[in-house]
Order: sequence, then C-alpha cells, then structure tokens
Amino acid sequence: MSFRLQPTPPARPNRCQLFGPGSNVKLFAKMAASAADLINLDLEDSVSPSDKDIARANVIEAINTIDWNTKTLSVRINSLDTPYWYRDVVDLLEQAGDRLDQIMIPKVGNAADIYAVDALVTAIEAAKGRTKRINFEVIIESAAGLVNVNEIAASSPRMVAMSLGAADYAASMGMQTTGIGGTQENYYMLHGENRHFSDPWHWAQTAIVAACRTHGILPVDGPFGDFSDDEGYRAQARRSATLGMVGKWAIHPKQIGLANEVFTPSAEAVAEAREILAAMAQATANGEGATVYKGRLVDIASIKQAEVIVKQSELIAG
Ligand code: COA
Ligand code: MG
Repeated sequence: MSFRLQPTPPARPNRCQLFGPGSNVKLFAKMAASAADLINLDLEDSVSPSDKDIARANVIEAINTIDWNTKTLSVRINSLDTPYWYRDVVDLLEQAGDRLDQIMIPKVGNAADIYAVDALVTAIEAAKGRTKRINFEVIIESAAGLVNVNEIAASSPRMVAMSLGAADYAASMGMQTTGIGGTQENYYMLHGENRHFSDPWHWAQTAIVAACRTHGILPVDGPFGDFSDDEGYRAQARRSATLGMVGKWAIHPKQIGLANEVFTPSAEAVAEAREILAAMAQATANGEGATVYKGRLVDIASIKQAEVIVKQSELIAG
C-alpha cells in the first residue's frame, strides 16, 4: 500500500471463462447457452494454421448473430510472433459489432506488445467510429511475461484481466512436465518416507495476483487440461481462489460447474463474513479497533477481508 488507494477491478462476474475453437461452429450455441460468465472464442492454439481464415470469419459471424445474453464476450487472437494477429485485430474491429467486449492477447512478453495492439485497435476504433471501447485481457504464459508482469498490468487503460497459461508457461520455463496445471508428481518434499507435494504454479500465480491487484485488474487462473479429473480441477481452483484469483478457464463443459462452485463464495462463508462485519461494527461503536469472534482475533484488517467475500457474492448475485 501507499498513500494511493489500490484501484478497484472491473465489476464483472468472472468465475468461469469457457473456451471453444473458432473452427468448431457447432459449439458456439452450446457455449452461449452455458453457465459460464465469459466466453472466449479462440483463434489461436486450438485452431490449425490451415483453418485460421475460416475460424476468423466464423467468429465474426457468431459475434454478430448469436444471442450471448449477459455474458462477457471475448476473442483470443493469435500471438504477436505469428503472421495472423494483425488480420485478427483488423477483421474483428472492422466487422464484428459492439457485442464484442474484449480481445484476449496470448503470449504477452512486455508492455510494448500491448502498446502495439493498442495502437492498431485505437486507430480502427476511430476510423470506424466505434463508440464502445474494446478491453484487453492478456495471458501470461512465458518466462518474459512473468518477469515483466507488472509493466504488462500497467500497460494500457484497456487492460481488465490477466490469465495464467500453464502449458505454454511450463514450456517456456523449461519445466519437465506435460501436465496443464495441477499436482506434478516429481515436485515433492520428503518427510521421512512421506512425499508432500508442492505447488509448482504458486509463484507465477502470486506474481500475477500482485500485479493485477496493484493495477486494478482481474487475476484469472487458466486451463486445467485433464477434464476427466474433477477433484484435481477443484483442488487447483481452490488454491487459486485462496491466492486471490477470481475465476478459472473451462476447456470442456464439465469444468463450468466446478469453476462456478469454487469461485462463488459459499453461503456459510458469506454468513461468517457478515457476522465479522457486524462484530467489528459493534467494536467500533464501543470505541475498540479489535474484538473476539468465535475465539479468534478480528480487527480493522478483518473488515477488509470480510468485504472481499461479501462484495464477490453480491457481484455474482447481480
Ligand atoms: N464448449 C461447449 N460445448 C462443448 C465444448 C466447449 N468447449 N466442448 C465440448 N462440448 C460439448 C460437445 O459438443 C458435446 O455436446 P453434445 O452432448 O451435444 O454432443 C458435449 O459437450 C460433450 O463433449 P465431449 O464429447 O466430451 O468432448 P469432445 O470430444 O467433443 O471435445 C475437446 C473435447 C477438448 C476437443 C473440446 O471440449 C474442445 O474443443 N475444448 C476447447 C479447446 C479450446 O478451446 N482450447 C483453447 C484454450 S486452452
Ligand atoms: Mg497458450
């Protein structure tokens, strides 16, 4: 903290971000009808190079014709090291209507990447008379992205969120794993005979949360690859929520309910937070800065912690 207040992040429900390949049009209506808060139509790594043009056209058509209800609508463009990204931006900004809320920029390495996309988007918005500003979400999924995460978070007023992309991150870091998120069997401490598994994603997640919170944007956990492993997904999502992330991707419809379950504060957690706020209101009325709630200390910091939970539940309730 400093004397400047920490900025408040955008007030959008963001428990689950559902992805689908832009080349798979039969998924679009199912995605629109799903319980995900945000839809990400993908032009990047789930689309083969031979399908890039058709996927772009499909996605523009889908933005303009499908009823996406109240969902945040996002398109993941190709990364800046490909020949595709500029055409993604130009066609989307020139041809997709105002229903489009954001573009997601993958494999971001530094603030100059965002500056380049921002310049292009800004010029097209002005040329086409677009009145609704397109927001940016980025994926941190490389060593450079992590090293420069703070400048990336601060890079543009269009920035609203940041996701961790575990697979590309692991590859970029040279990690010896092909797992996408979750427990890695070789990452453990020994205590006697017992193995205690640690979390190899922890540093990246915490760095992202800190950068996002400093600059008032939303930290999001990315994909969990093994969509047959519900408990593994839950465990990963619960760790992310505990660290301050607001939601997680779904790469299969099975994962939507799991994300919504974990990132919606439980009724018990909300009730307890409200009780803490009431206890502290009573303490304040008595001229005290601290008091006891269920045998433990609560003080003025507890008010802020409780407010995080209450505000999140109010946002989700709409
Ligand atoms: N969004 C909405 N519905 C989806 C979906 C998605 N991402 N993925 C699958 N479904 C639907 C299927 O169409 C099927 O519907 P049906 O019951 O009406 O036939 C149902 O969910 C069950 O699908 P299932 O057969 O288990 O999966 P699949 O073999 O069809 O597809 C994947 C598996 C992984 C290829 C697919 O889920 C997918 O493309 N996921 C997104 C990948 C992506 O976008 N990656 C980029 C980000 S990492
Ligand atoms: Mg990736």
